[in-house]
Amino acid sequence: MSNRRAQGDAQVSSHQGGVLIVDFGTQYCQLIARRIREMGVYSRITVPDRVGTMLEAMRPDALVLSGGPRSVYEADAPKLDPAILGRGLPVLGICYGLQWLTGALGGRVEPARDAREYGRTEMRVIERDVLLDGVDEHSVVWMSHGDHVAELPPGFRVLASSKPCPVAAAADPDRRIYGLQFHPEVTHTVQGERVLRNFVLRVAGCRDDWHPGDVVQEKVRAIRAQVGEHGEVVLGLSGGVDSSVAAVLVHKAIGPRLHCVFVDNGLLRKGEREAVEVLFRDEYRMDLHVVDARARFLGELAGVSDPEQKRKIIGRVFVEVFREKARALSNAQFLGQGTLYPDVIESVAAHGGATATIKSHHNVGGLPEDLDLELVEPLRDLFKDEVRQIGRELGLPSSLVDRQPFPGPGLAVRCLGEVTEERLVPLREADAIVREEVESRGLHEGLWQYFAVSLPVRSVGVMGDQRTYENACVVRVVSSLDAMTADWELLPVDVLRRISNRIINEVPGLNRVCLDISSKPPSTIEWE
Ligand code: XMP
Repeated sequence: MSNRRAQGDAQVSSHQGGVLIVDFGTQYCQLIARRIREMGVYSRITVPDRVGTMLEAMRPDALVLSGGPRSVYEADAPKLDPAILGRGLPVLGICYGLQWLTGALGGRVEPARDAREYGRTEMRVIERDVLLDGVDEHSVVWMSHGDHVAELPPGFRVLASSKPCPVAAAADPDRRIYGLQFHPEVTHTVQGERVLRNFVLRVAGCRDDWHPGDVVQEKVRAIRAQVGEHGEVVLGLSGGVDSSVAAVLVHKAIGPRLHCVFVDNGLLRKGEREAVEVLFRDEYRMDLHVVDARARFLGELAGVSDPEQKRKIIGRVFVEVFREKARALSNAQFLGQGTLYPDVIESVAAHGGATATIKSHHNVGGLPEDLDLELVEPLRDLFKDEVRQIGRELGLPSSLVDRQPFPGPGLAVRCLGEVTEERLVPLREADAIVREEVESRGLHEGLWQYFAVSLPVRSVGVMGDQRTYENACVVRVVSSLDAMTADWELLPVDVLRRISNRIINEVPGLNRVCLDISSKPPSTIEWE
């Protein structure tokens, strides 16, 4: 694994300049990184121990020190080497970051006691400097701190206060060192974006020329350099955005030396396998290997109705099937994956301390390490929306780039109870009807997912003069930003009516359509 990871680090540190964010354990590091990238400025996150290495590799234009759950005066609280401040780089400390700066530069941090603030609070600007330029004299900011700055270091001035907190913002403008007790990265801080922009673009003078689409050539060059002139890559293509964009990038770099493996597990949606074949084999002319493992998956799932057991079986069989195919492509020395930045961000463990936990995530169900293939992960420094932009730049169709998420275990988690082909056939048809009716009216924009679920419940109906006794299905439509929470959404009644009519009339085996009106939490998006 270490060999694989080292490769990944070499790939991602190729981009130079921008903002390096030091993670002191906050839950908002990714949010800071995204806000800065949304300004068109490259940013990366690292842990305190690796700042020195990253300064050399990335040569950032500025540092942002994040918040964190600890108190700076605790013995094992995360720390930075103060020598970093001698490099002349502009620095912005946020919350714990401000408090660490305060301690490192000769000021004093204390427990805030009565002055602790959690949530929205009103801040008053005392001096704008560049940092608070354009910020209203009174504005709402979001605070979350149990400590505060009791005494600023020499050379610092107070820029803003809140009632309980005398130092809400401070600066040593000569050294370009700034600090905020509030969190500019969260949307509750009404003018937070302006404050971050002022620091990144004006104090630090970063150029806002980072466009994810522009990195295509850079990525292609990096893949070529890693794989060499004769290397071959095997890549598990799922038909989702990440593996598709990764495949197109690798294909651009090495053409026929990329071998894509698409596993048909029998749990796909209607038309999914055919769409992958048309796009990647016919249009992109990739070496695509479709493994028909439908019987194998359904055989292993026979008689199983426990949701967790179903998921485990599907994951295991996928790895077995993929391993067999990858071994058959015996010339490959590399494994291509569409791993994204959130999956590889190093972060300070939430319980504090300087231990770095590195989440190592495998996109397609945890791929086998014993294949002994070196990883090629061209997307490992990108967020999902950036991958979508690259996909557009590469000419992938919107139906793929903007498609709704589809879970790895496929229709198995939407076919409640035992999964059988007899039940999958009507589920596939019902799901296709939901998608068609939603997408043909453009209603999918703004929705996170819209699909059908098959229940192992039969009810009585009447069709013509005949009594029916068939299964029920559920229509599930949700909106969400990140799938952590979700709201149920109501499609226009005429669309619901049409979906219901079509399912009952066109899909043998289903005689009842129900609507799921549950939000997450307490329900989950998928039913299993
Ligand atoms: P839940 O059901 O937990 O789903 O609210 C949250 C989001 O994750 C998707 N999902 C999965 N995606 N592999 C995936 O790649 C999985 O095993 C999996 N399970 C759920 C789900 O579709 C929703 O968008």
